[in-house]
Amino acid sequence: MSFNFKKLLGEQTSTISNRLKKTTINLGVGDPEFRVPKKEIINLVKKIENKKISYTNPSGIINLKKKISRKYNNLNLSFKNIIITPGGKTGIFFSFLMLGEKGKEVILPDIGFPTYLSLARYTGMKVKNYKLNEKNFFKPLAKDIISLISKKTKFILINSPHNPTSSVMDDLEMKKLAMYLKNKNIYLVSDEIYSDLIFKEKKYKSFGQFKFLHKKLIIINGWSKNYGMTGWRMGWSYWPNKFIKSLELMCLNSFTSPNMVAQKLVEKIILNKTYVKSHIKQLKKNRDYIFKKYKNLNSIIPEGAIYLFLKIPKKFKSDHSFCEFFFKKFNIAIVPGSSFGKTANRYVRVNFSKKLSNVEKFIKNYLKINA
Ligand SMILES: Cc1ncc(COP(=O)(O)O)c(C=O)c1O
Repeated sequence: MSFNFKKLLGEQTSTISNRLKKTTINLGVGDPEFRVPKKEIINLVKKIENKKISYTNPSGIINLKKKISRKYNNLNLSFKNIIITPGGKTGIFFSFLMLGEKGKEVILPDIGFPTYLSLARYTGMKVKNYKLNEKNFFKPLAKDIISLISKKTKFILINSPHNPTSSVMDDLEMKKLAMYLKNKNIYLVSDEIYSDLIFKEKKYKSFGQFKFLHKKLIIINGWSKNYGMTGWRMGWSYWPNKFIKSLELMCLNSFTSPNMVAQKLVEKIILNKTYVKSHIKQLKKNRDYIFKKYKNLNSIIPEGAIYLFLKIPKKFKSDHSFCEFFFKKFNIAIVPGSSFGKTANRYVRVNFSKKLSNVEKFIKNYLKINA
């Protein structure tokens, strides 16, 4: 099997970040405003023995894996099936490396995180898309996904809470899909990187709740979004037994081991519920303020994650020209919807976790232009 590096995508993202100035109000980047308190970092640095900063086990510190397993104890994820990686994205990359196969099919969301399509192309897989429609609040429906399944389907990818629409898959739809897959030879990759950032009254539901799926389930998660740790590059994923030995070698052969200091920090904070609670509180405060004050905002109300997903005014030719206008006129960076699939080319993504006065600056101008 040979993968084609010329098929990789992502230039749009690097072009946007190269253009940012120091003064740019950056509502484009998918980085939450909150951070791990500095005192945790100072305490860690004070205590850590310089001489002991070294490689760890290739797939991560065992005690950290045990703590992940404890944090999600209702899911029964054995620590032996968990790997720690530099960011959640490495888990996605490994999913395509392990499951990718020329001629086989992968079912992806359209609209979706652009890495999925890039890696599907890289591994030579045929892509089938299930649509996320605004009239259904951008939520995935089991029947849409099931209708795309064929003999060639190797895996399905779900991302909930969702980037860029901030929708959350309904429990009943999750159940329907899980039941359908019960006796099928198809893998499910569930990207749950925003799992802690849910604002609905009910709790976060992982596909891990379906124990009968564990043999064909890969869960992608991490601390970049939930704990505001994008720069620490810390992620984890859960895998069926049959992949674990090879993944250990994949970690060893690609990054030797995840960053030890970053792992130590996560080990300290992972079971501290107050941080996650304060992140949700902050996000909910922003969200509720925005939707109470700006009732005519043309966006679904986010149920999770950190994004407003807004329709652009008719007078703009494209999402790109709209973003360009905001960048030049107001020094505000936002992301064109088409970065997440062609069907999103009349939308833009705006990070509402950022400083409220900056988010409001965007909204006020957006509404003025829309009037
Ligand atoms: C849906 C989704 N999955 C995975 C990732 C990757 O996260 P990380 O920064 O931990 O690699 C992102 C980051 O933007 C994301 O939005």
